[in-house]
Amino acid sequence: MSKIAVVPGSFDPVTLGHLDVIRRTAKIFDEVHVLVVHNPGKDAMLPISERVGLIQKSIAEDSEIPSNVLVASWSMGLLVDYCTEVGANVLVKGIRSQIDVAYETPMVLMNRSLANVETVFMLPDPAHAHVSSTLVRQVASLGGDVTPYVPKAVARFLDKTRPV
Ligand code: PNS
Repeated sequence: MSKIAVVPGSFDPVTLGHLDVIRRTAKIFDEVHVLVVHNPGKDAMLPISERVGLIQKSIAEDSEIPSNVLVASWSMGLLVDYCTEVGANVLVKGIRSQIDVAYETPMVLMNRSLANVETVFMLPDPAHAHVSSTLVRQVASLGGDVTPYVPKAVARFLDKTRPV
């Protein structure tokens, strides 16, 4: 039976740190589902369909990401419901710092308690330790250059949608 990992997140937008985590996860698991999920605690910049499209383009343009990665979205309820639906019992979350560990820990225990879904913490390249979607949105909205932090597809998109 193939082992599926779900990499969930807001991905608003996907960053180079996210791609690093996806790339590493794809080397370990048979199948990887990158899942765009609404975070009830955050106001979103991009519609979910746009976020999915940007991840798909970013993956297609990354020659190091193998073909066992698919992109989906979930707005039908709990994240663990998606896992049950596709037969996955592992979530993979990128961890940049102790702050991320503290943020993720209650969710790890809740997802385990709800549906026996385990979470694996993946450390991305420290070169991306300061990169978050939140800061990318902020830098982009104030006219800064985000090309060092996001895949080319996202940089093109943000450039195109920049207010004049
Ligand atoms: O990229 P983010 O914003 O840190 O991702 C957080 C996300 C979307 C994975 C989290 O908000 C989430 O799991 N949302 C689904 C709602 C859910 O299932 N909640 C109950 C268990 S924690």
